[in-house]
This record gives sequence, structure tokens and C-alpha cells, in this order.
Amino acid sequence: MSSDQFKDMRRKTRLVHAGRDPSVQHGFINTPIYRGSTVLFPDVATLRSNNQRYTYGTKGTPTTDALEQAWSELAGAAETVLTPTGLAAISLALLTCASAGQHILVTDSAYGPTRHFCNSVLKRMGIETSYYDPLIGAGIEALIKPNTAAVLVEAPGSQSFEMQDVPAIADVAHRYNLCVVMDNTWATPLFFPPHERGVDLAVEAGTKYLSGHSDLMLGLISANKAWAKRLRDTFNAMALCAGPEDVFLALRGLRTMELRLREAEQQGLTLAHWLSERPEVSRVLHPALPSHAGHDIWKRDFLGSSGLFSLILKPCAQEKVDAFLNNLRLFGLGYSWGGFESLVIPFDCSSYRTATTWAPEGPALRFQIGLEDSEDLKDDLDRAFKFLRSST
Ligand SMILES: Cc1ncc(COP(=O)(O)O)c(C=O)c1O
Repeated sequence: MSSDQFKDMRRKTRLVHAGRDPSVQHGFINTPIYRGSTVLFPDVATLRSNNQRYTYGTKGTPTTDALEQAWSELAGAAETVLTPTGLAAISLALLTCASAGQHILVTDSAYGPTRHFCNSVLKRMGIETSYYDPLIGAGIEALIKPNTAAVLVEAPGSQSFEMQDVPAIADVAHRYNLCVVMDNTWATPLFFPPHERGVDLAVEAGTKYLSGHSDLMLGLISANKAWAKRLRDTFNAMALCAGPEDVFLALRGLRTMELRLREAEQQGLTLAHWLSERPEVSRVLHPALPSHAGHDIWKRDFLGSSGLFSLILKPCAQEKVDAFLNNLRLFGLGYSWGGFESLVIPFDCSSYRTATTWAPEGPALRFQIGLEDSEDLKDDLDRAFKFLRSST
């Protein structure tokens, strides 16, 4: 696409132009939604030649091409494929790099459903998973077996926000020819350029910040040069395609993603600082706060932070926590984050951790800070905190 001419420009400019070529769509700015299964060939010679760009609905459309090209450019990748959800992207990435009889290493802080996929489907297919301490860094070497194929990292960890030393893990992994898979959803390539930091296959749940509006589901996997072909071949074999409407909406979200992410970062930091000074709160788990154990790694490797973080309350009864949550007006109770609205969920990782122990001093909550006025968010929290403290 002619967006190539913007490739040496700064990121903000590239976000506007990536994957777009108005000249091939009658001057219209946005690539339209192509829906379709059947693609016609002009004659039998073209059909037999196997080199027509579009041949079948599962093999891509101009709409999917636009987002794949834009994402590759943004992530510094050689290839990107789109899947129907973020979880499908994680599954496909692991199926790309692991085979029956092999072993993979997965951080103990991985997104819960990633764990479920490993413990159910991969196990059934004869792929063994070992979970490791997210803080292991170069110590991952001790866990590598002769049949280890991949290491999955996620930074920061889902819900618990441990920061991983991804370059140190990738250095060791590559010495043993392992594939480094990362769930990079929290930072997105804007705040963590995955392939520059040693990641081979980077997964993004486009459902979150790329969408930004809680109205679509999408996954993206970007690959460096070494893994590009294997990723595309695995994708083609499974045809795990994303819906055209969701891809179109994601392309629209892409143009404003940096603006929204920067605002989410500011809002998140404002609320994280404010919450860390509340008497009801024991500690805030946000890697951009100097109090966070992984802050130095975050500062070294990340270019920003998003609006998702957790906190540990001082010890209190669950009914009090429930009363606090039920009395919030601006924070919805919902799992999928990255939209414009603020959310909160209670969580407890203790039942499924196997390599580490999750035993915080009090109840844990995860917050997603949206685009509301931060003073209104503070007022809402302040009012609801009274229910946490009340004696009835
Ligand atoms: C870190 C992380 N990765 C992946 C996913 C999965 O995304 P999706 O909901 O699109 O399957 C989520 C969803 O909450 C997530 O939080």
C-alpha cells in the first residue's frame, strides 16, 4: 500500500497513515468492509496460476490486509495475523510454536484462560506446561528441558501486575532456540515494542485498547522474521479468521489509540497515586509507581503505562468489599477492559497459582480507569469507601 511513503516518519504520523491507501478506493479515507467467502477469478489461467492476491474469504480481504499491515508497521513486525479474540490469538501463537511431545514454560502470572488452554487442550495434545515465577529473569535457564519449545511471558502479570524482565528471558530462550511468546495486551506495541525487546510472537487482545470502545472482539499476533512464515502457515491451516466488522472498527480505533492510551495513562496514574494514599488501601500494584517492585524494569523497557492496575485493601470482611463495589456509580463491574469507561473487579489468584503463592494481606481489586473526569471518579470512590469502613 502507498502508506509505505510514511514509513520513515514519526509514529503519530504513521498511526494516521498505516495500512491506508485512498487512491485505490476512489479517494475515500478509510478502507471499507469487504465481506465475502467466494472470490472470482477472471479466467482459468489466473485460477490455475495461484497468484491472484485474493482467492477465498479465509485467505484475507483488503480490510484484513489494511489492519495486518498497519499493525506490523506499528509493532515492528514482519507479519501479523488477525483472530476472532485475544484468547484465540494466544492459542494460535502457542500452536504455532509447540508440537506434541514438547514442553512450554508459562509465567505463573498469565491471563487465566491462557492457563486453561495449556492445562486442557495442549495437555490433551501431548504438550506439557510448566509454570514459572514471573520474577525469574535469566533464571529461566534452569527450567529449560531438552524438549522445551517456547516461553510465554506477560508483563505486567494479569491482575497481579508482576513486572517481567522480558529481554533477559528472551536472551536465554534464544540461546536454546526457544520461541518467546508475549501477551502484550496491557502495554500494546505503543508502550512496549515487543520485537525490539526479543519477543518472537507478540499477542494483543485487540478487544481492549485497540477497540477502546468495548464493542468488538479481536486478537492480533505479530511475528518477527524468524517466525513469520510458520505463523501464517498455522493461521492458514486453521482459518481462525476475525469478523470483517470488528476489523473495520479496530482500524478506526487504531487512528486514535495513542491519544486514548496517553489519556488512560494520565488518568490511571492520577487515580493510582490518589488510591495509594487512601487509609483503606494497603498498596497499589502499578508498575509506573516507584513503590512497585518492578518499577526499574518498567522504566527501562516500557514507553508508558496504561489505565489498568490493581490494589490490595487493608484486611477487611468480604461483605464490606461487596458493599463498596455495589455502591460505586461510575465503576462498572466487568471483566473486559480497555474501553472508555471505568471498571472494577474483585480477584483472587490463590486457587490457581502453582509456581508462586498469592497471599496478599487483604482483598484485591483490579481497576480500569476510563475517560471520565478524574475528580468525579475520586468523588465516587470516596463515597463508596464509606461503605467499606461502616460498622453496619
Ligand atoms: C491480558 C489479557 N490477554 C488476553 C485477553 C483475552 O482477550 P479476549 O477477551 O479478546 O479473548 C484478556 C482479556 O481480558 C486479557 O486481559
